[in-house]
Amino acid sequence: MSKITIAIDGYSSTGKSTVAKRLAKHLGYAYVDSGAMYRAVTWFAMTHNFINKEKFDIDSLVSHLDAIHINFIFNKDVGFAEVYLNGENIEKHIRTLEVSSFVSKVAEVSEVRSQLVNQQQKLGKGKGVVMDGRDIGTVVFPDAELKLFLTASPENRAKRRFDELIKDGDEVLYDDVLKNVQERDYIDSHRKDSPLVKAEDAIEIDNSNMSKDEQFHVILGIVNKALKEN
Ligand code: DC
Repeated sequence: MSKITIAIDGYSSTGKSTVAKRLAKHLGYAYVDSGAMYRAVTWFAMTHNFINKEKFDIDSLVSHLDAIHINFIFNKDVGFAEVYLNGENIEKHIRTLEVSSFVSKVAEVSEVRSQLVNQQQKLGKGKGVVMDGRDIGTVVFPDAELKLFLTASPENRAKRRFDELIKDGDEVLYDDVLKNVQERDYIDSHRKDSPLVKAEDAIEIDNSNMSKDEQFHVILGIVNKALKEN
């Protein structure tokens, strides 16, 4: 059976990465979390003081883009590939609400996007990849054999994200998480360069009322059908 490219896009905290990871493991495919790459660039911008609550020095970030090297290295203890920035494991740093509060602004910068899209296309070159993000089916792999678009209500997504952050020991308020989810939805879908939109040929799945297992099995059914057709 030939390998295919699976693009999973959708709003923030729709469980894209959870289902993408499980799918990749099940199929023996590579998994690429493109959002983690935007988060890595954001972490770089934060630690170099290019972005904070008062300012965003886009020019400095853009002039340093060649100094940003992002890798994914599989950690068998956790069962997935972790994100490295210039050789340092930054997996723990990039999932915080603080990074989430800046990442959509960084992801609006066209130079950041073209650099990351280029790397994402190289990572998925050999097929047999599950990649999740916002523009995978529209920009990164417009010819992907299977495109999924995940949605859920903002309240549902904020609750899931809030539970994850609390589990990771982040002291956050549900209302702040909901506000962040709504702000990111707005910025991600209104930016000039490759806004978040459903690709015309993507299959939309509203998982508001699905458990993680239910969603996985619904998606697996769709994937098996796509594998037979390709
Ligand atoms: O999937 P995530 O929540 O980790 O993504 C973080 C941010 O990165 C998201 O708010 C928008 C941006 N992003 C993007 O613009 N394009 C992608 N392909 C993936 C993420």
